[in-house]
Amino acid sequence: MTRPWNGTFISAAKPNDEGTPAVYFRKSFVVEPGLRRAVLEITGLGIVEPYVNGGRVGDDVLSPGWTSYRHRLDVASYDVTELLNPGENAVGAIVGEGWASGRIGYEGKRHHYTDRAALYAQLTLEYFDGRTIVTTDTDFRVGTGAVRANSIYDGETYNAAREVRGWSEAGFDDSGWTTASVFEWSLDALQRPVAPPIRRVEELAPVRILTTPGGRTLVDFGQVLTGWVRITVTGEAGRTVTLRHAELLTPEGEPEYETLRTAQATDRYLLEGSGEPETWEPRFTFHGFRYTEVNGWPGELTADDIRAVVVHSDMVRTGWFTTSDERLDRLHENVLWSMRGNFVGVPTDCPQRDERLGWTGDLNAFAPTAAFLYDVRGVLGSWLRDLAAEQQEKGFVPWVVPDVLSHPSAPTALWSDVAVSLPWALYQEYGDLEILRGSYSSMRAFIAQVEGLLDDNGLWSVGYQFGDWLDPDAPADDASGGKTDRHLVASAYLFKTTCELARTALLLGETEDAERFDRLHRRVTKAFHREYVAPSGRLVGESATAYALAIAFGILEGEQRTRAGQRLAELVAKAGYRISTGFAGTPHVADALTQTGHLDAAYLLLTETELPSFLYPVTIGATTIWERWDSVRPDGTLNSTGMTSLNHYALGAVASWLHRVVGGIARTTPGYKSMEIAPRPGGGLTSAHTIHDTVHGRVEVEWRIHQGVLALNVTIPEGTSARVALPLHPDEAVEQISGGQHTWRYAVDTDGPIEFTMDTPLKEIVGHPLTWRKVSAVFKKHLPYPIDGNAPEAAAMSLNLLMTVIPNPPAALEEDLRKVLQR
Ligand code: BGC
Repeated sequence: MTRPWNGTFISAAKPNDEGTPAVYFRKSFVVEPGLRRAVLEITGLGIVEPYVNGGRVGDDVLSPGWTSYRHRLDVASYDVTELLNPGENAVGAIVGEGWASGRIGYEGKRHHYTDRAALYAQLTLEYFDGRTIVTTDTDFRVGTGAVRANSIYDGETYNAAREVRGWSEAGFDDSGWTTASVFEWSLDALQRPVAPPIRRVEELAPVRILTTPGGRTLVDFGQVLTGWVRITVTGEAGRTVTLRHAELLTPEGEPEYETLRTAQATDRYLLEGSGEPETWEPRFTFHGFRYTEVNGWPGELTADDIRAVVVHSDMVRTGWFTTSDERLDRLHENVLWSMRGNFVGVPTDCPQRDERLGWTGDLNAFAPTAAFLYDVRGVLGSWLRDLAAEQQEKGFVPWVVPDVLSHPSAPTALWSDVAVSLPWALYQEYGDLEILRGSYSSMRAFIAQVEGLLDDNGLWSVGYQFGDWLDPDAPADDASGGKTDRHLVASAYLFKTTCELARTALLLGETEDAERFDRLHRRVTKAFHREYVAPSGRLVGESATAYALAIAFGILEGEQRTRAGQRLAELVAKAGYRISTGFAGTPHVADALTQTGHLDAAYLLLTETELPSFLYPVTIGATTIWERWDSVRPDGTLNSTGMTSLNHYALGAVASWLHRVVGGIARTTPGYKSMEIAPRPGGGLTSAHTIHDTVHGRVEVEWRIHQGVLALNVTIPEGTSARVALPLHPDEAVEQISGGQHTWRYAVDTDGPIEFTMDTPLKEIVGHPLTWRKVSAVFKKHLPYPIDGNAPEAAAMSLNLLMTVIPNPPAALEEDLRKVLQR
């Protein structure tokens, strides 16, 4: 239902600067008897908090969120019938800086869209015999109130004594306020929201309140989250309670503010001092934090006085995953929390520092995981429209959407090509061709642009590339300078995106395009092989990322693929199962290993705990996914490279492998109309339970190994079908199922985690790579020479026997061996 927009934007007369108050707008109007329905539609440039007759309207926060405002500005709509009375009424809004006029981006700039807060409102009063419309116009009055300063990065200052009583009620004397000015903004940008609103989704009580060695009062919420805190405080007038937010404590136990870069993340509440408890929370900022440093609290701060309010786009949860290994469960929880922390309207890189931008590459890596965990059609559908609008205007896909960078963005793999891969990933998840149709011209324009950049051989060999961003071996001052040739990464991703586009064209009946992009795809494939692949399947400039991409994207086939899989497994083993890949490779390594028959290696990679590894952060208490594996070092110090956020979802992309391979839920047609249910137990796991709400209904897979019996429960929705490959089945049995619940129980060779003792022969331990790795690590720690478990003289020996032949074994050797065998 699109109604014409009848009003005009209005604003305060003066621009806002750093630290200026939020702007209050109000107007009185008359409601005649016989009102049937009243709808308030409202938006603005800034963060808009609407009021009618003294009451806050709606439960959304940070509205209208952040979109590409010049092209698309969301209008919220509320039924306010119950809030109105015959006679005089009032409507108003507080408008904070938000993304529109506040400081946004690491370049420190303000006023990306406007230099002042602006409001658009339209209140439609439907009577039984007609309608009247109240819109923003120069009859609105403009003032200020308690919100004295507000900034997304720096926080909010609220002086309760300056609350203007009754400012949004009828009869308020606004003669001291000024007249609103007309503000030029195209009404064509106004639109119904595609994304769900941002809301307060959960509250967390403190897990502890502590005094630091330096004497600071600190509240620990036990979880890195995005949002703010709400306080209830009683004290004297004018007292200032200051709340500063941090993700981490230093080893000395003080708040570590470095991960925020220049963001102040500080809220201030100045008490009114009425003697009554005063409850307050900010509304024009948000923070990424686990700890809040509280200053100026009157008396003693108790747990009842403070809550963390978790804020994000109010999406429907669609994915769950748990296993018998609580470390993996925590890893998965961390992925979930990083998604929640970074889906605040725009899918961002991080929620805490002076950035929080819609970085394309981060989302591209994470999108399949995101689409499993939550229904992201709204948030990402909206974001894709912003991307397409800005791409069309600027002639390139911005590296961040909405774009606030001061320079043009060169076309890059994994970042800019999100234009192709995100619609494709969403189509895979939801099976809705409209997603592809809506993005088709954007997808096509991006690939056509890159086509023009290819060299004579068809290689994408020139121009800036982020490469395998944040490869742990990249120099600290050059995150794009990892081991893997960045143009190899670019051409591998182009192999993938040209294939996605050619298939899209075919699905949409664009046959000429389908042929054109298929030709391009073949050209890119040939170029990749010519430049990077030896006939044996070895890659030039070998790295785990190079192999992972070549295998997982399907660039290599047959013997070459097998050989590449072996090389990948060797490289991964050589790196000690520690992570040697960045943003481009990490999401694909476990898949590439699994697909080439190296499941054990994939599990070893997954369960490694030494730095840098998937589980290292878990072992030192991480509650979110970090930007880099060594964001926090084992001694608790922060890795001061500048690129050290504790809340970045990109590397959490491994969760997609958990869902599909450990959990066993994989689609074989878009939208999960047909599926492959093939859990692959390993890594010492004895159970996994995975749930996914697809567009057809709930899919649930649970497997459990107990006393030599594997129990598998599978439920799929009516109207869908699945091929079930029974895990660890002695005959490798496969079953076809249709909608309903299905159960299998059968004896398996393994009894879950194998019990090893000091009497187990070495060859048996060697046969279990996970345990052998741990045992070898103990030998390495205590002995000056390696122990080869395969050597004929050692293979038959038990560890006990071995201890008798080792000259002067150190006392801790046996103790450490017993410890690793127990796990
Ligand atoms: C962001 C990254 C992003 C990168 C690209 C960083 O500052 O946090 O996640 O993708 O820049 O340059």
